[in-house]
Amino acid sequence: MKQIFVANPKGGCGKTTLATQLASYFASEGIQVALLDHDRQQSSLDWLKARPDSCAPIVPIAAFRGDNAALEKFDYLIHDMPAGCEVDDIRRHCLGPCKLVIPMLASPTDIKAGVRFLMALNRSDWVAQSQVDIAMVANRVRTNTNYYKVLSAFLEQVNMPLVASIRDTQNYIRAMDNGVSIFDLPRSRVSSDLKQWQPLLQWLQAQTETELETA
Ligand SMILES: Nc1ncnc2c1ncn2[C@@H]1O[C@H](COP(=O)(O)OP(=O)(O)OP(=O)(O)O)[C@@H](O)[C@H]1O
Ligand SMILES: [Mg+2]
Repeated sequence: MKQIFVANPKGGCGKTTLATQLASYFASEGIQVALLDHDRQQSSLDWLKARPDSCAPIVPIAAFRGDNAALEKFDYLIHDMPAGCEVDDIRRHCLGPCKLVIPMLASPTDIKAGVRFLMALNRSDWVAQSQVDIAMVANRVRTNTNYYKVLSAFLEQVNMPLVASIRDTQNYIRAMDNGVSIFDLPRSRVSSDLKQWQPLLQWLQAQTETELETA
């Protein structure tokens, strides 16, 4: 069982968008996926309620209510964490090696809040002692802006991989409303978006050191 946490204490940076897109990608690959919504706003669960029957199934889990039965039976657990979440909230729900994806917007306030979260991860004994692979995803990107350059330069400086840059497009807003993802839409309509997800999907599916050792 693999676990992916999508987290950043800063609100509105794209956690639910990334979590729902990822859940849909793995489901479309025929993998058993549970989407755990840790947020009382229930945006991930709302997305799943709107999901057409023709799309690959994803099991909803209201984690914010403490639902966490029989998680071991799934191939992938995708955790959509709430705004304001702390490193300890991730640790409490983590059942072994995991990947942590941190979406970040390229704005001054988002970068400052992100730096604080990265510092908290850096200070955490749990992160130091566990198999937690961490990567950032720049979201709602306009590559020619100064703040995108500031964000990329900062991540390079702190040695934090920027695994993907996802553009700002109505495709994600519409997908959220309709219970679908770009992986459910006709390829011709979303080909440039699909390309942007490839490095993140590769990073997520790469085996961890522990998995390689036990293989
Ligand atoms: N790449 C994108 N392009 C366009 N709109 C986007 C993109 N990513 C996210 N959005 C929109 O931005 C808003 C916030 O995104 P989302 O709900 O995923 O953030 P969040 O981090 O989960 O927020 P919260 O902290 O409230 O849980 C939503 O309306 C979403 O549709
Ligand atoms: Mg959310």
